[in-house]
Amino acid sequence: MASGIELFTLKGRVALVTGAGRGIGFSFAKGLAAAGAHVVINDINADNANSAVESLRSEGLSAEAVPFDVTDNPAVAAAVDDIVARNGRLDILMNNAGILIRKPIETHDMDDWNKVIAINLSSLYGVARECARPMRAQKYGRIINTASVMAISSRPGVISYVAAKHGVVGITRGMASELGPDGITVNAIGPGYILTDMNKKVLGTGTFEQQVIDRTPLARWAEPDELQGAAIFLASEAGSFVTGHVLMVDGGMTANAFLTQSVDLGVAS
Ligand code: NAI
Repeated sequence: MASGIELFTLKGRVALVTGAGRGIGFSFAKGLAAAGAHVVINDINADNANSAVESLRSEGLSAEAVPFDVTDNPAVAAAVDDIVARNGRLDILMNNAGILIRKPIETHDMDDWNKVIAINLSSLYGVARECARPMRAQKYGRIINTASVMAISSRPGVISYVAAKHGVVGITRGMASELGPDGITVNAIGPGYILTDMNKKVLGTGTFEQQVIDRTPLARWAEPDELQGAAIFLASEAGSFVTGHVLMVDGGMTANAFLTQSVDLGVAS
């Protein structure tokens, strides 16, 4: 078995990353490719998927675009068959595509609910189920689901997202239990607040942006590339005995139940 830094190489591995046309998915793809994998960039937005591939290739990395809607199961099944036919294998799935709807319960209607559950929860099962076919046959696989701090806690205005992300923990544990005997690990990464387009609406508006900083022990938002390390760890031999785990990469937010700045300790010093 390899040791030290060699544990983290992904040379020879083929990875599918969903929702990788931009944001966190793009950073995951870049990280896996830089560690040696051939990455398949999926996104519903074909232009963004193609630009992402161009950007990685311009850095000498190995990538191809396979755009599809993760909720369209026949398209997912066909894409997985194509990827395996072209590359001979599929080792890593980063189940990352997701959306967020911010609305209070009065206007957070069933269409909103169904959309968020379909993209953020049901599709993770659908895509993982298709990828598990070749992974089981080759007796090797790494499935990594994108969770959130909202997978183990909550805040007002994002009920469907909180429900979906809690479900991601359930899918992760359920699939880890069932697929482990075939050499497949299934884990989740729980990002804290990351500077991506998903948060465009709340960035620069003051209050919410600062509230995140006040609740985060590391006292800042994170860049998407700060999630790469967790992805490479779970996707490589370094994570060979880790399965069913949710790895929070949240600057300490979920370890902390209080404001971190200017805290009144409640005792005389
Ligand atoms: P983003 O909005 O920048 O990127 C999401 C990507 O998914 C987009 O390129 C979009 O086109 C794609 N996508 C959406 N629906 C799709 C579909 N049906 N099929 C295929 N692709 C689809 O968002 P971001 O921030 O990069 O989020 C990525 C993941 O990380 C999501 O699962 C999100 O819930 C999660 N996350 C994000 C956090 C943040 O602070 N940005 C924090 C915690 C979790």
